[in-house]
Amino acid sequence: MVLTAIFVMIAEILIFVPSVARYREEFLNLKLERSQIASLALLVSEDISAELSEELLMNAGVFNVVLRRDEARQLMLSAPMPAPISQTFDLRDPPATMLIKDALSRLIDPEPEVIRVIGQPGQMGGLLIEITLETTELRDAMLDYGVRILILSAVISIVTAGLLFIAVRALLVKPIKHVVGTMAAYADAPEDARYLISPSAGVTELREAEEALLSMQTQLTGALRQRERLAQLGSAVAKVSHDLRNILTSAQLFTDRIEMSEDPQVKRMAPKLVNSITRAVHLCESTLAFGKAEEPAPNLGMINLDDLIQDVIEAERLAVGDADISFSADVPVAMVVRADAEQLYRVISNLARNARQAIIATGQPGEISIAAYGQPDMDIVTITDTGPGLPPKAQEYLFQPFQGGTTKGGTGLGLSIARELLRGHGGELTLRTTGAEGTQFLIELPKTPAAT
Ligand SMILES: Nc1ncnc2c1ncn2[C@@H]1O[C@H](COP(=O)(O)OP(=O)(O)OP(=O)(O)O)[C@@H](O)[C@H]1O
Ligand SMILES: [Mg+2]
Repeated sequence: MVLTAIFVMIAEILIFVPSVARYREEFLNLKLERSQIASLALLVSEDISAELSEELLMNAGVFNVVLRRDEARQLMLSAPMPAPISQTFDLRDPPATMLIKDALSRLIDPEPEVIRVIGQPGQMGGLLIEITLETTELRDAMLDYGVRILILSAVISIVTAGLLFIAVRALLVKPIKHVVGTMAAYADAPEDARYLISPSAGVTELREAEEALLSMQTQLTGALRQRERLAQLGSAVAKVSHDLRNILTSAQLFTDRIEMSEDPQVKRMAPKLVNSITRAVHLCESTLAFGKAEEPAPNLGMINLDDLIQDVIEAERLAVGDADISFSADVPVAMVVRADAEQLYRVISNLARNARQAIIATGQPGEISIAAYGQPDMDIVTITDTGPGLPPKAQEYLFQPFQGGTTKGGTGLGLSIARELLRGHGGELTLRTTGAEGTQFLIELPKTPAAT
């Protein structure tokens, strides 16, 4: 708006300079014309009274008039002058630049002067007319005219600027704000198709920009959806691999026994089976190098805890091999807990497996005991071992995926998956104690569903 006002003012000044020069010229020509009319009285009677002559001059607003009708110079009317003539202006065919220069210097110079103006008399009134006048009236009229032009240009520039402002707002600013707003909303939720821009601008260039943005958003949203799906797939694969690896490791132990079979056919097949399983375990392990998993919501039911723990211990006993590890369970026979049987099995089995691996690594005999008891609002399960305690790295990154693992062939996912599964139950997994004399993990399971 300010810029428009400035530009209109500049344009107005460019118009003002020639028009004020023209105004001065017209003013002086009018004076010449009036003086000519005043002098016409002399044509009627040669000698008029001094009073009449003075009145005629006053009406015309000049000091004297000289009208030359032919070669002889004729003085027509005259009155005393307050000062000598300081400048003479010839209005017969003056160049435009001179008119502008004279007009501007008249505006600038505030001192009143007496000037002589020469012009062509109108209506075949003679050869030449010459008048003498004071500049005060001329200058005042010019200033007055200038002020009027100034006010007019101010009004014009405000109106123009206002109209331009409204037009720019409606045609450019509003659509641009709309684009910016949609972009911000889109950036907050790029996967939400509702925030894709719908091109609506009337200005061609802006509409093209909107269309380009729309196609970019469509591509980006598609790419994001695909990325999300791939991430979910990656998570699922990681989880499957983790537990598949554990299952296959147990299977590996069975094949060790199959190898001892007396049946020659079985003996021949066994190494192949072992190799296949080993390859499968490796495959799972390398898959696990990718991504962390989010578990599905648990399918809660009332399950017998004693049965579940006996299953875990049985599987672990098989895995112990030659090492000297004893297992004990201290679980009330009729104890039931609210849990997803499959997930709780994975939790306890992961903890028991960690304990078993830690004890085996020491080469010493050891003991793993799983105990359970009920509290008013929580069911508690503890997994205790007499192993070497958690290594510092495992304690530092406890429950962080991929970070705390120190066992060979392990991924460092077991504890973080176990905790995640328990939190899905509204429960918690904590490390209660760890040290040279052993480690104890504690499982808490809420007795009542969250809704009550
Ligand atoms: N009972 C324990 N005694 C000693 N160290 C333990 C015990 N439980 C866990 N740890 C240590 O904590 C680390 C992290 O355990 P976690 O189960 O998360 O991963 P992992 O056993 O290495 O691999 P994964 O279970 O994924 O195969 C283990 O590498 C081990 O060093
Ligand atoms: Mg583990």
